[in-house]
Amino acid sequence: MPGQGRRCLIDRARLVTVAGGDGPLAGPHQGRLGLVAEGALAVEGGSILAAGPREEVLRSIAAAWPQGPDQAVDAAGRVVLPGLVDAHTHPVWAGSRAAELELRIRGAGYVEIMEAGGGIASTVRATRLASDEALLADLLARLDALLAHGVTTVEAKSGYGLSTAEELRHLDLLAQASRLHPLRIVPSFLGAHALPEAYLGRQEAYVDLVLEEMLPAVASAYPGIFCDVFCDLGAFTLEQTERILREARRLGLALKVHADEFGHLGCAELAAGLGAVSADHCVMTRPQDMEAMARGGTVAVLLPGTTLGLGSCHFAPAREMVLRGVPVALGTDLNPGTCPCPNLPLIMAMAARYLKLSPDEVLVAATRNAAHAVGRGREVGRLEAGYRADLLLLETEDHRELCYGFGTAPRMEAMIGGRWVWPATAAGATG
Ligand code: NIG
Ligand code: FE
Repeated sequence: MPGQGRRCLIDRARLVTVAGGDGPLAGPHQGRLGLVAEGALAVEGGSILAAGPREEVLRSIAAAWPQGPDQAVDAAGRVVLPGLVDAHTHPVWAGSRAAELELRIRGAGYVEIMEAGGGIASTVRATRLASDEALLADLLARLDALLAHGVTTVEAKSGYGLSTAEELRHLDLLAQASRLHPLRIVPSFLGAHALPEAYLGRQEAYVDLVLEEMLPAVASAYPGIFCDVFCDLGAFTLEQTERILREARRLGLALKVHADEFGHLGCAELAAGLGAVSADHCVMTRPQDMEAMARGGTVAVLLPGTTLGLGSCHFAPAREMVLRGVPVALGTDLNPGTCPCPNLPLIMAMAARYLKLSPDEVLVAATRNAAHAVGRGREVGRLEAGYRADLLLLETEDHRELCYGFGTAPRMEAMIGGRWVWPATAAGATG
């Protein structure tokens, strides 16, 4: 199949454009889908050349493409939407935490297990022992699973290394995976994920290691990537988080936080004040944090799959966030402890029940707003001229289907950068 120069027309589509204006959508605009019932979309050189009402698009390509497209796909009324963006994952790990599930069923808390040396520390032990080849193979399999569920861009954290060499090894594996896999990967450094065993009782010394050794090494190997911190009970304090984020910012890194997952430490408000791009989890987040996030334009990345994974019924206050003008995004939180699940549409279905977001609000959260939450809001997350041609052609005429059904992979074809990448045999199969 010809590659990036290929001209593809998708005609007679029901387009979910999520287009227009700048930034993430919030408040009354959280559900602004930009539906075009009879639409068309033209792709050239890996990007969207035009998307909108079909007469307009057909007119503009008649002038731009005198020989016509290389490929014409008749969507026959089916939905075309931006590829999903998973705004929060931890996909580099080895081993299983199935035994922990049993402990939790018998009443042990997540923080309790973590403080007893289980939890993240047990994954760190297994991951340090795994070879590059084994970690890469598992990582690629997880990316395949995300893509099979319609994800075309994924934020991916390190954080099961907890030493300079191991954290860099995991970031290197993510870089390697992005050369081998069509999915777009946005890496984040999460050295402050937990206290490694060698530092037990010496948390300040570990924070110093993050500040003095890890951050400079990460900033020089991966300039401008995200720095994330797990600020919570049993993890890092608000004061330690602030020091790490300030140093990361000084070194030119973009900021994210794990905030208010188990307790309210004030981290979402801190993050907003420091100009963080997103604050994630936000289960215990309070009105004053929300006000700060709305003011700062900090996106709330909500992760209801984690609430499910923890067997909890206490979901993030999404409706109140929308009411207060905080842009809301979604992610799987794919990780071995709290959400071993790569099914973003399942998380969307949960958001449309337990977070009380409407299907339209959910779709914005998993496309445009998630793209902004990972710093890619000017490249992906919408169907608009100039944006990358990352899109899904769904086997349905109703965009709400993606939130309505749950538990199975959506029937769809996926394009990334102008190439049909899913299913492997698809070439806009109808065209
Ligand atoms: O986002 N909260 C911290 N990190 C993950 C869990 C990691 C783990 O338990 O391995 C989360 O829930
Ligand atoms: Fe997480």
